[in-house]
Amino acid sequence: MRTQVAIIGAGPAGLLLGQLLLRAGIDTAVIERKSRDYVLARIRAGVLEQGTTDLLDAAGVGGRMHREGQIHEGISLAFAGRLHRIDLRSLTNGKTVRVYGQTEITRDLADARDAAGGMTVYEAGEVTIADFGSATPKVRYIKNGAAQELTCDVIAGCDGHHGVCRASVPPSAVQLFERVYPFGWLGVLVDQPPADHELVYANSARGFALCSMRSAARSRYYVQVPTDEHVANWPDDRFYDELRRRLPAQIAAAVTPGPSIEKSIAPLRSFVAEPMRFGRLFLAGDAAHIVPPTGAKGLNLAASDVRYLAQALIEFFGERSEAGLNAYSTRALARIWKAERFSWWMTSLLHQMPEASPFEQKMQLAELDYLCQSQAAATVLAENYVGLPV
Ligand code: APR
Ligand code: PHB
Repeated sequence: MRTQVAIIGAGPAGLLLGQLLLRAGIDTAVIERKSRDYVLARIRAGVLEQGTTDLLDAAGVGGRMHREGQIHEGISLAFAGRLHRIDLRSLTNGKTVRVYGQTEITRDLADARDAAGGMTVYEAGEVTIADFGSATPKVRYIKNGAAQELTCDVIAGCDGHHGVCRASVPPSAVQLFERVYPFGWLGVLVDQPPADHELVYANSARGFALCSMRSAARSRYYVQVPTDEHVANWPDDRFYDELRRRLPAQIAAAVTPGPSIEKSIAPLRSFVAEPMRFGRLFLAGDAAHIVPPTGAKGLNLAASDVRYLAQALIEFFGERSEAGLNAYSTRALARIWKAERFSWWMTSLLHQMPEASPFEQKMQLAELDYLCQSQAAATVLAENYVGLPV
């Protein structure tokens, strides 16, 4: 079997890249180790920057997002019993974000790929990649018990943090940067109206909390928990109790509890692999970097990687020019590090660090108070939240 671009991973990064290339007439194969149903059931964040929605439009999959996604013009910060709105729109010359679940985006992309007849192999076993130092890299896998080999011009490693692509690069060729935070987020999804019409990010002495949503009828809530916490210790009643105790009174009163339809704990980490190109292998999305979810940047960063990579590949196959491919890693990393900085900063501002001294807690509160008073400080938050230029 032969294709131009072998894409490893059918998450949002892989499927979006596939769709952009397909529309440019470039042949792709997507190789995914899990089943289609499994991939489409994963619950992830859902705040999209304008640049991400533009790219979904360019890929021809923006229809449902425009119909069902909500435009948000602000977010609120809660701390010390106060609630302060950051007006994203007025602070950024009219920019906003769109709330639309990543689960829905993945479904829209997978449906579009199927409709266009793109090749996708789900449940591919023992995926390995080879020869990416040459002009004819190979992808090998097992499907229905039979060994398969795919020869291609380029491999796109869109296989997430635990994928095979980054792991196939010799350790001496890649530098890893990492911070693991000593806490995670316990999240609950519930079919009840959200506590507020916008997102509320709360710093409290009991730990961070977030009120988010998927729609006017579906809420997503999170509370900071220690890394070694277990979901089984958190029946719904305990969760809502703890959530409310971390929120200002008017928001706490507006939380409508209900049976959770999903409950899970996600660890928080910052991670970057440099470079993102190894011969004919290019990493994109979580395969190359992780951000803690506090700034809602994970999917948006995956999308900006994919934008750069798609442009570079279209140039490569169309004009036989390697300029875009040569620039890819540097270009992507420049944006990634700024999003890493923002996500790390938001995380540090809003969470209770287990080792924090009373002095450091006062610093957090002083910075939050400053964000409420200073338009310059609020603008820094807002322009990062809506997304830095692509
Ligand atoms: N072979 C084939 N597929 C693999 C392999 C492998 N060895 N390892 C992992 N995969 C698949 C996973 O099953 C998953 O479907 O690669 C896909 C990677 O998808 P994601 O983890 O969703 O990563 P990405 O597409 O980069 O999306 C980034 O996801 O985690 C969030 O915050 C992140 O929102 C961001 C987005
Ligand atoms: C979510 O809705 O899951 C969500 C929203 C904003 C974040 C993180 C997660 O910063």
